[in-house]
Amino acid sequence: EQSERDSLFIVSDFAAKHYVQRLHHHEQGSIGQSYLKQRGLSANTIKKFELGYSLDEWTDLTDTALKAGYKQQYLEATGLTIVKEEGKKYDRFRGRVMFPIHNISGRVVGFGARTLKSNDKKSPKYLNSPESDIYHKSHVLYGLFQAKQAMRLQDMCYMVEGYLDVLSLFQGGIENVVASSGTSLTEGQIKLISRYTQNITVLYDGDAAGIKASLRGIDLILELGLNVNVVTFPEGEDPDSYIQKVGDTAFKTYLKEHAQDFISFKTSLYAKEAAGNPVKKAEAIKEVVASIAKIPDAIKRTVFFRSCSLIFDIDEQVLISEYNKMHLQGR
Ligand code: UTP
Ligand code: MN
Ligand code: MN
Ligand code: MN
Ligand code: MN
Repeated sequence: EQSERDSLFIVSDFAAKHYVQRLHHHEQGSIGQSYLKQRGLSANTIKKFELGYSLDEWTDLTDTALKAGYKQQYLEATGLTIVKEEGKKYDRFRGRVMFPIHNISGRVVGFGARTLKSNDKKSPKYLNSPESDIYHKSHVLYGLFQAKQAMRLQDMCYMVEGYLDVLSLFQGGIENVVASSGTSLTEGQIKLISRYTQNITVLYDGDAAGIKASLRGIDLILELGLNVNVVTFPEGEDPDSYIQKVGDTAFKTYLKEHAQDFISFKTSLYAKEAAGNPVKKAEAIKEVVASIAKIPDAIKRTVFFRSCSLIFDIDEQVLISEYNKMHLQGR
């Protein structure tokens, strides 16, 4: 017997194929195609990630699905169709490039959808499927299905913020790349990665706000015992814009030359901010020691206490006694 979840998988798969059909075989699809081309994506990438297009119509998907025999109940449960109180129905995604989101076994569980308008204040740049019985956002990473083999082979995973970052890097030959898709990283997502590798390199968008906001999420990676490196990009660039700008080879060189371990990165960031201000410096030291304290492995902790003492220019013992103090306080 078919379960409710099976029905949600089946209707999501139908929708993904529908959007692909619209992109390639509907006259409106050419708008989506030229957008993707302008973003530098090849036919190969578009096919590999099953990108599609939702027509700029109110009920194209809903009508087509109902006519084909799919039940409204499931269209609604996946969020593909929105049903108003009066019973009026319309498609959630309209006039957008569609990015199907796959689970680890390659089944479509939801969608990200980008508007083609470059500065429309009225509707969000990306719309996403809501949570459903098959789509738990905290347990899904965009690109993981396509990346997992390369992650195991390279024994490393690049973490980026957005759909386009995944696609551009994958196309440039960096296939071990996944996105958290705008949300902060969860334990469920990190555990998914740790099935394939214990090494994560986080590629931040080049804006200070984004970096500060994601420091917490990274403590979670440390806590789960994984190794974290980070690479930052020049102000205003994200991994997608940067690889499209400098090309694959220069991008790979940039990654090699700019990767630094997370603890040193965080230490330098805080040390720079605190320069010449003893009170700030004391706070900065506590902040960094709190991160090191998350690392379960004692030997790794020792190595990091050493490198931080150099960056802060203070005795290692100061850091270690701060660490011991935290433990006595039960942290
Ligand atoms: P960004 O604003 O960095 O977008 O958001 P981007 O991925 O670089 O997109 P482009 O290059 O302008 O097309 C990063 C991620 O945050 C989520 C998306 O997953 C996006 O890829 N996001 C962003 C949303 O879910 N909704 C939004 O309105 C914006
Ligand atoms: Mn869940
Ligand atoms: Mn951003
Ligand atoms: Mn971005
Ligand atoms: Mn971008």
